[in-house]
Amino acid sequence: SHRTAHRSAILHSIGDPREVGIEASYEYFDDGLLVVENGKILAIGHAETLLGQFQDADLVEYTDTLITSGFIDTHIHYPQVDIIGAYGEQLLEWLETYTFPAERKFESPQHASELAGVFLKELLRNGTTTALVFGSVHKESIDAFFTEAEKLDLRMIAGKVMMDRNAPEYLCDTPESAYSDSKELIERWHGKGRLHYAVTPRFAPTSTPEQLTLAGKLFHEYPGLYMHTHISENKQEIEWVKSLFPERKGYLDVYDHHGLIGERSVFAHGVHLCDEECQRLGETGSAVAFCPTSNLFLGSGLLNLDLLEERGVRVGLGTDVGAGTSFSQLQSLNEAYKVMQLQGKKLDPFKALYLATLGGARSLYLDDRIGNLDPGKDADFVVLDYQATPLISRRMAQASNLTEKLFALMILGDDRAVKATYAAGVCRHRK
Ligand code: GUN
Ligand code: FE
Repeated sequence: SHRTAHRSAILHSIGDPREVGIEASYEYFDDGLLVVENGKILAIGHAETLLGQFQDADLVEYTDTLITSGFIDTHIHYPQVDIIGAYGEQLLEWLETYTFPAERKFESPQHASELAGVFLKELLRNGTTTALVFGSVHKESIDAFFTEAEKLDLRMIAGKVMMDRNAPEYLCDTPESAYSDSKELIERWHGKGRLHYAVTPRFAPTSTPEQLTLAGKLFHEYPGLYMHTHISENKQEIEWVKSLFPERKGYLDVYDHHGLIGERSVFAHGVHLCDEECQRLGETGSAVAFCPTSNLFLGSGLLNLDLLEERGVRVGLGTDVGAGTSFSQLQSLNEAYKVMQLQGKKLDPFKALYLATLGGARSLYLDDRIGNLDPGKDADFVVLDYQATPLISRRMAQASNLTEKLFALMILGDDRAVKATYAAGVCRHRK
């Protein structure tokens, strides 16, 4: 059988620093070897020990690089590629002014296919191999997305947006059409290859209680389905939810009441969640996507990562493109670091690596498949370049240990730092 061995420095996350401490949270091989067979990882270790054992493998040697597992983006919108960096608004006005008109264009299947291709290419250029993705309201947007993802053999999770009120008529479905369109997509795509479906109500304000009820019903009809939505991103949004659902205890309770929380439920943002809501998310196995570039760009607020984690909530990292300003999870970590600094806290580089990889996989209940480079997992990995830019090279020459090198990559790195991206053992991007 065909084996490939990649030789480089190799680092991967093997635990949450909060649970196991920094030193036990990662594995590092200064001169490492990653052996891949049939799209899966066969072995990882010191080159010295493994080279003899895998003499039959094709050897790929890298210098001045760091191999790590592919980045996981736990919240992103593929129809928003063309509105990144749209000027001047906070959440609700931003949706009206920029987002809804951009998503309208996805009524054209041709536009959807083109943008799905552009979007996936951009993820790969940035070292992201798995993402949890919002489509538009049009079911064809998800056919286009999964068609392109399948061609590249990527592990991707996506869903058609459900929204039946408080949005332009051209973007509204109905409770029944959202249910049946989503169901059709689930039958067609969920579990096909490495694809998974997410029931995707946009957020509480744009769904009627009837639609949320059907979304909750659908979520429990098939094993392994995801639920993907937004929560507590913006103060005005939260007040609006209170006025739309006065009978509910709070924002999370709207989703809870409709059966939309639990394992494989992923809530983007959550920057203004109260302690009780964090507790409830934790006890139900729900996850939050931390989207620092978006939270800063839209002026939404600062995530209380410690509170979420103390309450047992799974946390992954999201770009939230197009409110987020970069596809790069290295850049997300740069901004995450600053979000923590503004709260007088630190983000250790190994914790950061965890959030972008294994923490994301755990949020998605996919850590048996992805999230690090353990043998048996999907061979989804990225080759980072210590010489990516003049400044990165200079920082690397100064850096005296792995912590500093890793930190320099996340503060100064972006797509330029990604030398190659592999999915299921196949190189899908090379700089
Ligand atoms: N809340 C509802 N829709 C959206 C969206 O498209 N982006 C963000 N950031 N928040 C939302
Ligand atoms: Fe979003």
